[in-house]
Amino acid sequence: MPAVVIVGAQWGDEGKGKATDLLGERVDYVVKPNGGNNAGHTVVVAGEKFELKLLPAGILSPQVTPVIGNGVVVNLEALFDEIALLQARGIDASRVRISANAHVVAPYHQVLDKVTERFLGKRAIGTTGRGIGPAYMDKVARLGIRVQDLLDASILRQKVEGALHQKNELLVKVYNRRAVEVDEITEQLLSYADRVAPMIVDTTELLNTALDRGEVVLMEGGQATYLDVDHGTYPFVTSSNPTAGGACTGSGIGPTRIDRVIGIVKAYTTRVGAGPFPTELFDEWGEHLQRVGHEVGVNTGRPRRCGWYDAPMIRHAQRINGFTDIVLTKLDILTGIEEVPICVAYDVDGTIYRDMPMTQTEFHHAVPVYETMPGWTEDISSCRTIEDLPANARAYVARLEELAGCRISAIGVGPDRSDTIAVHDLLPAPSDPR
Ligand code: GDP
Ligand code: IMO
Ligand code: MG
Repeated sequence: MPAVVIVGAQWGDEGKGKATDLLGERVDYVVKPNGGNNAGHTVVVAGEKFELKLLPAGILSPQVTPVIGNGVVVNLEALFDEIALLQARGIDASRVRISANAHVVAPYHQVLDKVTERFLGKRAIGTTGRGIGPAYMDKVARLGIRVQDLLDASILRQKVEGALHQKNELLVKVYNRRAVEVDEITEQLLSYADRVAPMIVDTTELLNTALDRGEVVLMEGGQATYLDVDHGTYPFVTSSNPTAGGACTGSGIGPTRIDRVIGIVKAYTTRVGAGPFPTELFDEWGEHLQRVGHEVGVNTGRPRRCGWYDAPMIRHAQRINGFTDIVLTKLDILTGIEEVPICVAYDVDGTIYRDMPMTQTEFHHAVPVYETMPGWTEDISSCRTIEDLPANARAYVARLEELAGCRISAIGVGPDRSDTIAVHDLLPAPSDPR
């Protein structure tokens, strides 16, 4: 022990990578439990910027063993490209371990992702186009290829055959695309087998025995609560469970072993892709947050949609995930705004909701009810304690804490690892009661 989970509380890009990196030096294993190379986690260490997509950000800490958990869908080409990029920058990637049970994203998944989006027309999700949805569809349909299948060429071929039997019908008859050859896919996947084989382990065993020895395991969730296929703004979600429960399933660590669940919360709200977003701003304030916050998707280069802080969303996320702590990020981006609005409720066709409404239709109709807090103009990027913050920034943080129903244990005041105010330790002391 201990096991700690990091979860995005909004629609992604809250700063999960930075929060993981912050704890990196005190952690032994960082496991990615869900998603794939649809994620984009940016970490800045001493001015040097790293962008992680498939690998957990923990790889930047030399003593950490980075683990790709069973809940992840792995694009092998993307994996080795990312490893090569990191190695070229002096990062040791030899410690990466991959679950034998993780699923593979095959080239036909990417094709299907793109054609499905086109087929949906104006109902498109705005996916990252990485084949994530189709790979998870195959996993659930029991037509998926697992990483362990690369260790057995004849099984691999049988599985590719089984998958393509159905896929080719779909590609040719529904989407008017060319059929995919079994040989081509099998050969392509097998071309990675020798390189990936030494990385494949029983990660559940690896992580649980590490916990038995008292080592620290951190689960670095990708995506976020409102992109969760069960709890998010369905159908405008990803195809995995990026919530705390999903971190258990996606890494094989039981819920009773989790000591902390840390929600990563941006001081305002952003979203990439389609779907409802009550506090979205279409005026100059939206442009302001987008520009000052450098809100551009790491993965696809799309500008992120921006809006004010949405307190009912965070309170609901707190419940779903059972946050023990919140890391509030990007507070510095709000500097210079005279009056900072906070959405505290929704007006849905004349009815006021203080919590998330039950249905998606109501959420689509939700008009934010704002309260405003006085802003601050002082540069806060060099603040390192809560007392260093201007009184109005402290009051903003205190109000968010009250509305979230959870303590704020760290505050981000800039992108660098060091641009952080520590309020409470994010890791439990060995003597802490569980
Ligand atoms: P993730 O996907 O949750 O890891 O978040 P991203 O890396 O996609 O997006 C967060 C962005 O904000 C990155 O560019 C980070 O470097 C940056 N960032 C994180 N925390 C802070 C902060 O406190 N202040 C500022 N200015 N930037 C931050
Ligand atoms: P990180 O880990 C923000 C969004 C996509 C799209 C929807 C479905 O960096 O926070 P998918 O390709 O997963 O089927 O796309 O989910 N999305 C993200 N948005 N941050 C992410 O990851 C995301 N991963 C997926 O934009 O709306
Ligand atoms: Mg991101």
